Amino acid sequence: MTPGTQKPRRPNKTLAAVAVAAAVLVVVLLVTQSLAYFVSTTVVETAAAQELPPSVYVNYYADGSYVSAESNAAIAAYIAQYPEPQNAQVLVGMTTTEIWTFMTSYMAGGLQVDCNYCHNIANFGAEGADIGDDVVATRKDTARLHLQMVADLNQNWLTQLTTIADKQPSGAQIICATCHNGNPLPVAWPEGLHGLPDDFRLPLDNLDVLLLAGNTGTVSLDTVQNNQHTMYHIKQSLGVGCTHCHNTRYFPAWDQPAKYYALTMLQMNQHILTEYSETMNNQEPSCYMCHLNQVRPPGAVESASSLPSVLVSQ
Ligand code: HEC
Ligand code: HEC
Ligand code: HEC
Ligand code: HEC
Repeated sequence: MTPGTQKPRRPNKTLAAVAVAAAVLVVVLLVTQSLAYFVSTTVVETAAAQELPPSVYVNYYADGSYVSAESNAAIAAYIAQYPEPQNAQVLVGMTTTEIWTFMTSYMAGGLQVDCNYCHNIANFGAEGADIGDDVVATRKDTARLHLQMVADLNQNWLTQLTTIADKQPSGAQIICATCHNGNPLPVAWPEGLHGLPDDFRLPLDNLDVLLLAGNTGTVSLDTVQNNQHTMYHIKQSLGVGCTHCHNTRYFPAWDQPAKYYALTMLQMNQHILTEYSETMNNQEPSCYMCHLNQVRPPGAVESASSLPSVLVSQ
């Protein structure tokens, strides 16, 4: 990570606001009962709108500005009615308040959309036809599938990185913003990406073609070219040189841990393609989709401790 590219961390104003509000409340209580009621109601609403953590992302910022006042009022009423969720299938073991905080920072925050993108805000627990709008209902279904994908990738794939010798992963975790990066419809392979032709995607149907040294017999020019384009894709997507993963005196060597990291990632992308591409509008994953020219994806969460335990490796 380049120092200086990280956006400033937001000071946690909530504590200060609560302290000031409490002091004000005490004074006012001494003056009149009705005025005290007015102030305390206002204080509760102000505290609600401010309850956002400082940025927990590698280099991405979700400040809550995408959530409308109507949605904030609707969720306050919903929590009062249902302190426990009605229909949480992935985010199990969480209170409705905890789910709300998660939704604001990571779900709405990852896509930079308001709650009504996936909910009928008259009833956050509604599913399918009960939502009353097919488009919104489909988005909620897709969002749940992607929530399950996030858990799968963190628990079954990023955990493999910890077993690679001589290099420990930073502990960054995949979440909605890692691919969406503030966009409800992310494009895995943006047109004109680094001048690579659109059809030069990762050879995810057969990774063996990348192992030139292991291929017996003559290696065709096509194979060599395919390998070159793939390596160029990888190098550009991460913003590194070939030496990040290779000993340039002998490319087939496996003496650098980053090469094992990259192989695990190639296999993870293969898994995303077979299991989830249908839920991703049939897009094929690319390294760029998460890495966006950085070694550590900017939309990843710095540490597993920021996320609900059901989404991270235990
Ligand atoms: C991108 C889609 C999406 C967005 C945006 C979104 N949610 Fe959700 N929300 C979901 C999904 C999917 C679930 C179900 C999670 C599960 O099954 O564990 C859910 C569940 C909830 C629940 C639990 C309801 C219950 O009783 O079962 C609450 C409360 C909630 N969301 C509030 C919000 C709020 C408030 C916002 C805006 C700040 C928001 N959501 C934004 C998709 C979204
Ligand atoms: C591995 C990358 C990846 C991750 C991680 C990911 N998504 Fe997606 N998501 C996509 C792609 C690609 C699309 C397809 C966009 C399109 O329709 O062209 C998509 C589509 C969606 C859609 C449908 C949008 C629409 O209007 O049709 C929703 C909703 C969604 N994602 C929610 C989420 C949420 C919530 C999370 C986190 C829990 C998440 N996604 C995590 C890649 C990802
Ligand atoms: C992020 C890591 C990474 C970067 C950067 C990278 N490579 Fe690779 N490279 C790999 C991996 C992993 C393989 C083996 C793929 C497999 O086993 O399926 C590979 C395979 C190769 C091979 C085939 C020989 C072998 O190792 O089996 C050549 C040649 C090669 N890369 C050249 C390059 C060149 C040239 C660059 C710079 C333009 C580059 N690579 C950048 C990870 C990387
Ligand atoms: C779904 C998101 C996602 C995709 C797609 C993805 N990565 Fe990653 N990658 C991550 C995350 C998150 C980390 C950070 C792990 C850490 O730091 O603990 C990472 C780390 C890495 C690292 C280690 C970086 C280092 O410190 O040297 C390499 C190498 C890497 N990825 C290569 C690739 C390659 C090659 C591809 C495409 C074949 C790819 N990644 C696709 C999410 C992704």
